[in-house]
Amino acid sequence: MKKVLFIAVCIILFSTTAQSGEDFHPEKFHQSNCTGCHDSKVYTRSNRRVNSLPRLESQVRMCDANLGKKLFDDDILSLTQYLNDNYYRFEK
Ligand code: HEC
Repeated sequence: MKKVLFIAVCIILFSTTAQSGEDFHPEKFHQSNCTGCHDSKVYTRSNRRVNSLPRLESQVRMCDANLGKKLFDDDILSLTQYLNDNYYRFEK
């Protein structure tokens, strides 16, 4: 019985930490991973630091590194896109 429980826990852990290109949902990922240190208000505050699309991408990379998620490039890009579409709205 304990063994079954152990395996179940492993599956849950694996499925929540393994984020791969195909089924990456930026909104969900953001909701569950990116709101621990700051909420989405930092993206719209008047003195926000990010002021261009390339800077947004490097900030996303930095925060991903802090988080230790090691996202793939594709996922970084879709997360950047998501933030831009919803908050920053830089010209592409
Ligand atoms: C380990 C804590 C931590 C986590 C987790 C985190 N961030 Fe951050 N983030 C920060 C800090 C600290 C700042 C700088 C806040 C400041 O300047 O006041 C920041 C700032 C930002 C900014 C820039 C805001 C601005 O001023 O324009 C963006 C964009 C951002 N984070 C995106 C993300 C994304 C996307 C994730 C999820 C992958 C994430 N963050 C997760 C700590 C974190």
